[in-house]
Amino acid sequence: MNKTARESSVSHERTIPQDAAPTIQESDPTLLDAGAQQRSFMRLRVGNHLADAIEQVLPPDSGPRLIAKGGEHLVFEVPKKDMPDTFRDIVVKVNFYRSGGALFSPMKDPVAFELQLRQALEESIIQRRVKVLELRKYFGYDAVPAQKTFIRDVPVTPEILTSLYPGARVDAKRVPKTMPALVSVQRRLELSGEGEQYVSLTEYYPERQLVDSHADDAREQEEAYDFAHDLLTGRREQSEDPCKDIESICRLYPEMRLIARLVDQDPAFKKKLGDVVERLILYSRDTHRCLDLAGHNNMTLMKSGDSWKLKMLDVLNDANFSFDALDRTIVEMQEHRASDVHGLSLQHEEAGKALNPLNTLRVINALAFLSGHSEDILKISGIEQIPASVWREGISAYVSSR
Ligand SMILES: Nc1ncnc2c1ncn2[C@@H]1O[C@H](COP(=O)(O)OP(=O)(O)O)[C@@H](O)[C@H]1O
Ligand SMILES: [Mg+2]
Repeated sequence: MNKTARESSVSHERTIPQDAAPTIQESDPTLLDAGAQQRSFMRLRVGNHLADAIEQVLPPDSGPRLIAKGGEHLVFEVPKKDMPDTFRDIVVKVNFYRSGGALFSPMKDPVAFELQLRQALEESIIQRRVKVLELRKYFGYDAVPAQKTFIRDVPVTPEILTSLYPGARVDAKRVPKTMPALVSVQRRLELSGEGEQYVSLTEYYPERQLVDSHADDAREQEEAYDFAHDLLTGRREQSEDPCKDIESICRLYPEMRLIARLVDQDPAFKKKLGDVVERLILYSRDTHRCLDLAGHNNMTLMKSGDSWKLKMLDVLNDANFSFDALDRTIVEMQEHRASDVHGLSLQHEEAGKALNPLNTLRVINALAFLSGHSEDILKISGIEQIPASVWREGISAYVSSR
């Protein structure tokens, strides 16, 4: 996901779309028929409010079923029985946030607005093709699942918008019946058996957890953040005991414990992870592009016999994030605002731009440590001069204001 650029294009009243809490309230699922069981499963994954709103425009037994919601996409599966034989097993991903977010911007002339949106969407399809070719060059053809993207008019209602943008003021009179959106058809991957059959290599911003946690041990959490952050940006030397560093990385990114465990248990997994890390570093150094590694499952390793295969489901985004933005922020901080390290600070807008590249840098380097390649991590010039606390304070303030 990526959320940062999308958010900056809409009104300040909006809040970050939160993943809806998994609040299933159905009675005993064994009493439900197959269709109802599928719907109750879907509600567990995406939340009742959104599920209700989608059912209004998409009767549940008509074909596509909502199976997941990420930071940008609503993901639908098409039941096999409804598909022509010539189709492979697919998912349909509607980039709802990109177009839905645009509805919050000041809209004077709806016709001009729609034209502008369509042009922007067409431009992203062209850009994406280039980025996919590049990705395949660095990571191999099969690492990027086959995908075709179209612009389609998709139904939209005030209820869908309010459930996707909690806290936003939705003016029902201004919501059109349909809106153009990017709709992608992608090969379906079997994402079950996490930890055995597949493992996610990506993780969301830890600053969000810091802000959300009301723990008594807040100070201890901050210290743990600072330790791991400094390690992953190259500011801190590696510890003599590598276990200490791995433990601190797993505190920053708790889902990485699974990766650490697999590295210990499975030499084939460790080898593949090392190979992925090398490619991530090469790609980042050559292109300066910043992959979207914030979001569960954006990049996964999937078991295939005794070996593991890389699948990059959702590492590209429309925002064109680049490590250059992080570079510029560091230069600005150092040149213009501080005579010494104590005067450093991260301004609100800079925090928004730094969030994604900083996380991507840390995730790549965390994977390098976990796979035993900590001697060659990705570095951004000057980043080691900036203490973790500056990023922690600036980014936490940014995420809590959204
Ligand atoms: N090709 C796929 N096969 C199976 N599940 C998928 C596929 N693509 C996405 N999903 C599911 O949908 C979720 C969100 O998809 P993703 O592409 O990451 O969207 P977003 O851009 O909104 O983060 C994923 O975490 C995954 O669970
Ligand atoms: Mg994603």
